[in-house]
Amino acid sequence: MSKVIAVISGKGGVGKTTTTANIGLGIAMQMKQCVVVDFDIGQRNLDMILGLENRVVYDMVQVMDGEAALDQALIRSKANRNLHFLPASQTKDKSVLESAKIKQLLDELKKKFEYVILDAPAGIESGFEHTIEFADSAIVVVNPEVSSIRDSDRAIGILDSKSQLVKDGKEVEKKLIINRFDPDMVEKGEMLDSDDILEILGIELLGIVPEDKGVIDASNQGQPIIMNEKSQAGKAYKRISKRICGNKTPIVKPKASKGGIMGRLKGIFS
Ligand SMILES: Nc1ncnc2c1ncn2[C@@H]1O[C@H](COP(=O)(O)OP(=O)(O)OP(=O)(O)O)[C@@H](O)[C@H]1O
Ligand SMILES: [Mg+2]
Repeated sequence: MSKVIAVISGKGGVGKTTTTANIGLGIAMQMKQCVVVDFDIGQRNLDMILGLENRVVYDMVQVMDGEAALDQALIRSKANRNLHFLPASQTKDKSVLESAKIKQLLDELKKKFEYVILDAPAGIESGFEHTIEFADSAIVVVNPEVSSIRDSDRAIGILDSKSQLVKDGKEVEKKLIINRFDPDMVEKGEMLDSDDILEILGIELLGIVPEDKGVIDASNQGQPIIMNEKSQAGKAYKRISKRICGNKTPIVKPKASKGGIMGRLKGIFS
């Protein structure tokens, strides 16, 4: 059974596109056929993170409007044959999306791929609503800060009232990724801890991705951080991808460096 997963956040800039690219590649590494779809109309970031910006010819809206066949618009990842990418339209008119056409496109994608991952735009307006409309499940990405958590809570509220599954009396599965987590800042009391975030949002934890400077470089080079075996963020995305594919991989919480308060105390008393 294929699964449509929407990657959402409410607040912009928290790591949805980074997460989509990395879990897309991570799922493909698990030998599953996966497609990542850029629903951020007018923006286009996912193609850059995947290093595929020069390969874009047709986009999702052209497929929906019958101007191009799906196979003409799909781009195969250079990093993994199991991963495909469907680009966003560059039009500035965000109202180009229509429910019936989106459903048709997703049904077509579900015939070809086991996992269909949708990268939502920032905010909770119509582009967001179209991304969640036919999703079977959602990955909510938050940063450990109040504004991000508050906006995610709002996005979850819309997901739970406007998605098709809910209209049909069913539930949309929701899982949380805490991104840009910095254990040293948590120790200093400068950042919310994961337990506090989970308590506020009340959804299941899928994983914690640490703050990692390598993420930006990796994205700029079109080589998602999951390809870097040594990166902690890359390892976190690998575990998350395994969990998405049903493997029981334990959740690893990033540890504070020795510079943290506890580390310094241990240093004093040992
Ligand atoms: N774990 C991380 N550590 C360090 N930087 C990160 C991490 N995750 C994401 N970033 C950086 O944060 C910025 C925003 O990420 P990204 O574009 O994925 O967010 P987004 O939620 O898709 O944004 P938008 O809402 O505008 O679409 C990028 O520069 C990205 O490289
Ligand atoms: Mg984005």
